[in-house]
Amino acid sequence: MDGVTDICIENGKIAAIGNEKCKTQNRKPKIIDASGKLVVPGLIDMHTHLREPGHEYKETIRTGCLAAAHGGFSSICCMPNTEPVNDNQSVTDYILRQANMACGVRVYPVGAISRGLCGQGLAEYGEMKAAGVIALSDDGHPVMDAQLMRRALEYANGFGLLVISHCEDQNLTAHGVMNEGVTATRLGLAGIPNASESVMVARDIALSELTGAPLHIAHVSTEGSVRLIRDAKARGLPITAETAPHYFSLTEEAVINYDTNAKVHPPLRTAKDRDAVRGGLADGTIDVIASDHAPHSTVEKDVEFDAAANGLIGLETSLPLSLKLVAIGLLNLGDLVAKMSVNPARILKLSHIGLKLGNPADVTVIDLEKEFKVDANTFCSKSRNTPFNGWQLKGRAILTMVGGKVVYREN
Ligand code: DOR
Ligand code: ZN
Repeated sequence: MDGVTDICIENGKIAAIGNEKCKTQNRKPKIIDASGKLVVPGLIDMHTHLREPGHEYKETIRTGCLAAAHGGFSSICCMPNTEPVNDNQSVTDYILRQANMACGVRVYPVGAISRGLCGQGLAEYGEMKAAGVIALSDDGHPVMDAQLMRRALEYANGFGLLVISHCEDQNLTAHGVMNEGVTATRLGLAGIPNASESVMVARDIALSELTGAPLHIAHVSTEGSVRLIRDAKARGLPITAETAPHYFSLTEEAVINYDTNAKVHPPLRTAKDRDAVRGGLADGTIDVIASDHAPHSTVEKDVEFDAAANGLIGLETSLPLSLKLVAIGLLNLGDLVAKMSVNPARILKLSHIGLKLGNPADVTVIDLEKEFKVDANTFCSKSRNTPFNGWQLKGRAILTMVGGKVVYREN
């Protein structure tokens, strides 16, 4: 639905949409004036790393939720590479309990595909599903054993759980720390070829075809992966995919000064890959923009490039960076909302999300005109590892609401 209208919220739910209908609904409404602003369904980040339990010095569930609210996200999915790993009911329970005590942002835990993320045996899918996991992933690690991945897809499908694949062939990655090519050679750093990703994208598409199970491909970074996913979709396979803002905003050039904030897995690639990722977003091959928010402290980042941890924070820059794609005419605003809310909701089967009558009022208000300079020191996240610090951006969330409760409002 596109238009200028009122939305009436009562008891945390969307009670009416439309100026006339809202007038009759509530006699003494509390008014949030969003004139001139964009009111969209609450944004969903389907790929976030909260570091709790285990690495609370990088991020806690509470600070991660605050960062999400600040960035316009009403819901986030958290990856299982915590310590202990979320491969069982007690860790899932713990995450949900902590999330309940946080600021109100909805947290959907993702369970591990393999026990301990070790790639050796399947985790307890039934137990985790009952505890509340929304999907399964070994994110941070690939599932190298194709037979285990086949079984994972079969069992997960039986439980109605989506498998989210971190596509990487570790033998091809070897000791690589950035994109393979001339830049890596000049910098004296070991490279990771594009094939490290696309070999696994091809394998996992084949396994989805074999098992009939849906598969979601995380953080697409290469031209080859986009081509494989486009072809798989054209053949009607149940494949969906996401990319992250850094893959359509940056290239490998970002690491030229050995900036460890730009060290990420998969690595930032060439301009050709960046443009292919943009093309994949534009033609619908890539369904979702997810942050892959990966907080790390100075202990892991203020070290030699080779030794630095992979990952960058994204919850508080994802929306403004994605709005750049609208500014350059690659996406329209409807596409953007689809990729940051409607599509993740559809892929994760979150039918209660969306601006529809009776749904919980999860709403994000965006000021498209707001110009600002990224200052990591103002972030709610505990970590500061962003390569976007100092960037001049336009447009950001000024209010985030979850179930009718305002969880962030710009003052
Ligand atoms: O850069 C990354 N960081 N890629 C991953 O897959 C994992 C993540 C993390 O957990 O830090
Ligand atoms: Zn990953």
